[in-house]
Amino acid sequence: MAQPLKIALAGLGTVGVGVIRLVEANRALIERRAGRPIQITVVSARDRRKDRGIDLTPYAWEDDMVILGERADVDVVVEMVGGADGPALACSRTTIEAGKALVTANKAMIAHHGLELAAKAEDQRVALKFEAAVAGGIPVIKALREGAAANAIERVYGILNGTCNYILTVMEDTGRDFADVLAEAQALGYAEADPTFDIEGIDAAHKLSILAAIAFGTRVDFAGVVASGITRLRAADIAQAQALGYVIRLIGMAEAGADGLFQRVQPHLVPVDHPLAHVDGATNAVVAEGNFSGRLLFQGAGAGDGPTASAVVADLIDIARGELGPAFSMPVAELEALAPAATGHRQSRAYIRFMVADRPGVLAEITAALRDAGVSIESLIQKGRAADAGEVMVAMVSHEGPESAVTEALRLLDGAPCLTEPPLVLHILAD
Ligand code: NAP
Ligand code: HSE
Repeated sequence: MAQPLKIALAGLGTVGVGVIRLVEANRALIERRAGRPIQITVVSARDRRKDRGIDLTPYAWEDDMVILGERADVDVVVEMVGGADGPALACSRTTIEAGKALVTANKAMIAHHGLELAAKAEDQRVALKFEAAVAGGIPVIKALREGAAANAIERVYGILNGTCNYILTVMEDTGRDFADVLAEAQALGYAEADPTFDIEGIDAAHKLSILAAIAFGTRVDFAGVVASGITRLRAADIAQAQALGYVIRLIGMAEAGADGLFQRVQPHLVPVDHPLAHVDGATNAVVAEGNFSGRLLFQGAGAGDGPTASAVVADLIDIARGELGPAFSMPVAELEALAPAATGHRQSRAYIRFMVADRPGVLAEITAALRDAGVSIESLIQKGRAADAGEVMVAMVSHEGPESAVTEALRLLDGAPCLTEPPLVLHILAD
């Protein structure tokens, strides 16, 4: 019989337990596909006594996850702890330095340290794989590295955070409060240990920076992602968008070109007839535009134990088969360093929402600033007086124009006494 591939699991939370369940449930099928058994030999987490709802007695326990890769009974370490630095990074470094393969679900670590780890893996001639780090169960990294490898990818964008998409769609369907729905997403195992990473757009930014590197053959540039999340959205924005024929989705978008590398995560208004408008709950979707393939759309569960475990174990099967491609689809030395692109000249339509004092002349002040900045208004809605009085919502959609015009309008209005909070600008996703 072929030698088993011996696996160490670091982290036994949502994803780690999902991996054990999947390996046990599909053992025979996985062995036939991998050509050899995949055998979990040792596990590690923080608290040995915690009840995880599974039997851990078949596996050795290691208190210090950092040395997992140095053990003789380990060929591959699967890191499912999380955090860009700390024990996850220490464990990953020692694993690769010990000449063992590393699989990780940790997008924060790959966004910050992926190039270092990939270069180490190339030196050691071991695999570094992170399919689960982007878009949960969707095999989008494999699709871009392999299936679409012949294309120059010009643009990649999509819904990259299951927690935010779950929150937005439940709010849309039920009108429920943000905080309630976030607690539900946490209970379902979608959210990060620190859920501000989800709701502030940071998790999506981690994923976008990884996706952009693979799609464009550029160096990972997490610092170059301009990110905002969903915390400033009000139920009234969601209702307003619906009235105008849109839904709101947190979209990550990246483009590479002569201008440099454009990377942005922001809630967008998505026309109801766009495929991304129908991506609901914790589902993710990624669109990649190749110069020969045309538009490719990948969709599936973006978070949760089963889908994420599916991506992790697919990486293990690849390693068992001996597939050892460069982590970012080309060697680290080949990745191009692109500077962040300027955005002022980008043409877009925007939804601009103002919360203003309920007094005469306010609308004229706002529209004067928009006029002076050259922003042309396509439609404008002023909501009636709020029950709690004092402020009203003025929402408008601009005609297509340069982003710099909207920026200038906001500059002109900065500190205006009529504004009760800073304006909110959301771009409208073009078809
Ligand atoms: P989780 O449920 O919070 O589990 C984290 C695990 O790591 C726990 O078993 C914990 O041990 C262990 N751990 C944490 N800090 C540790 C430390 N200092 N030393 C030793 N062990 C430590 O997290 P998760 O949702 O499974 O996510 C794990 C990774 O997968 C993260 O990088 C996350 O971003 C990524 N990911 C998650 C999903 C998802 O849907 N959840 C999807 C894709 C990727 P104890 O259990 O003993 O406390
Ligand atoms: N917290 C992440 C999300 C997990 O909600 O998408 C999957 O990466």
